Amino acid sequence: MNLYPQTNRLINNRRTSFGLLLSALSLIISFQLYAADNVWDPNKILGSKHDLTSLNKRAGADAMEGVAFTNLNNACVYCHIPEEDLDNKNKSGQIPSWNRFRPISKNYKMYKSNTFDSKSGEPNDISLLCLSCHDGGMSVDRVVNTGSHWNSGKEQTLHMRISGNNDLESCGKCHDGSVAHDITVKELGTNLTNDHPISIRYAGLNMTINGFKSPDGLDGFNNGVKLFNGYIECATCHDIHNPDKKMLLRTDTESLCRTCHNN
Ligand code: HEC
Ligand code: HEC
Ligand code: HEC
Ligand code: HEC
Ligand code: HEC
Repeated sequence: MNLYPQTNRLINNRRTSFGLLLSALSLIISFQLYAADNVWDPNKILGSKHDLTSLNKRAGADAMEGVAFTNLNNACVYCHIPEEDLDNKNKSGQIPSWNRFRPISKNYKMYKSNTFDSKSGEPNDISLLCLSCHDGGMSVDRVVNTGSHWNSGKEQTLHMRISGNNDLESCGKCHDGSVAHDITVKELGTNLTNDHPISIRYAGLNMTINGFKSPDGLDGFNNGVKLFNGYIECATCHDIHNPDKKMLLRTDTESLCRTCHNN
């Protein structure tokens, strides 16, 4: 199994402009619905809400990096293993192939209802990555490998979590809706019963459950909605790297649900 598809792709993309052209072409071919200027570029994440090296600039105040969490000087390493640390990819407690520690997966309450037919056990790794920040349990700068751009002398004393609580471990200390915007809605917690089911095998594959559309390919749908080994994960609907879309969704809110659901 290739644990580092993202890194390989990144390296390949960077290697030559020819490689870039090729991948751009293949994107245009596989996502015919996309306009040519919508070629996917992970660097679009820079300056967005998931770029923890630029939040002060974005906010126009020296409030966050340098106060609430450590600036590691590389926006990608808050999620991806730094290239220089690829040998350290399986430290104890690490989410395999991601640069964050694994939350306790059996603590999540997964979706259920009387009409829900899929099997959902515990969140899969790629969704645990998101939850490691968005369940409010771990600070946003709690990474496994800090990477070579980090200056250990600049380690902060406070390391805050995405939590609406009003204490020195929570972004809610300022993000209470008056000092700064309320962060509570970004904290999903460990009770996922109010959220769309995740880590379930997509019912439209081989039509295992009626009412779902067949995907366009193994990776999902031509509009960008993505399956991961046939499973629905957080990143099925969200593309972290593309802040052009509202709520980082992969397609417009109006068409998102009907990508899969027949009604
Ligand atoms: C908040 C977490 C997060 C950050 C920060 C982040 N990524 Fe990603 N990245 C992901 C996730 C999740 C995936 C897999 C989902 C997907 O394919 O969209 C991914 C996938 C990728 C891929 C592979 C996409 C594919 O189609 O195979 C590349 C390349 C990539 N990221 C590059 C970057 C670069 C470069 C940066 C920094 C400029 C970055 N990422 C920052 C979470 C992140
Ligand atoms: C390293 C910590 C971290 C990880 C990992 C992470 N996020 Fe976030 N996410 C944040 C922060 C910080 C914000 C901004 C919170 C705010 O605006 O108050 C955010 C905001 C968001 C938003 C709201 C965007 C908006 O425009 O308001 C979405 C959606 C989101 N994240 C989804 C995800 C998904 C899906 C994943 C996994 C693929 C993920 N996040 C992984 C830290 C993280
Ligand atoms: C010392 C106060 C303070 C703390 C602590 C703090 N912030 Fe902020 N933050 C601000 C201010 C002020 C702004 C700008 C006003 C706003 O966006 O509401 C801001 C803006 C932001 C933005 C940019 C909003 C946008 O899209 O323009 C994000 C994302 C964010 N904060 C995330 C966080 C996270 C995550 C934490 C905890 C790890 C955190 N902040 C801790 C004060 C703080
Ligand atoms: C089936 C599609 C889908 C899946 C799967 C999904 N989301 Fe979302 N998510 C959405 C939509 C749609 C919104 C916008 C909701 C709204 O505007 O009310 C959203 C909003 C969010 C927000 C922003 C909340 C706010 O109001 O600012 C965060 C954070 C978020 N999702 C994180 C996640 C995480 C983490 C996961 C996995 C545990 C996940 N999402 C799985 C579709 C999805
Ligand atoms: C990637 C495909 C996909 C997308 C996109 C998607 N869904 Fe789903 N959804 C599913 C699957 C598969 C199930 C599980 C069905 C089952 O097992 O009964 C499901 C289940 C649900 C359920 C629970 C149904 C029940 O019987 O309890 C609701 C509600 C739901 N989706 C609403 C939405 C909404 C609203 C959107 C758009 C924001 C959306 N879905 C987007 C595939 C998707």
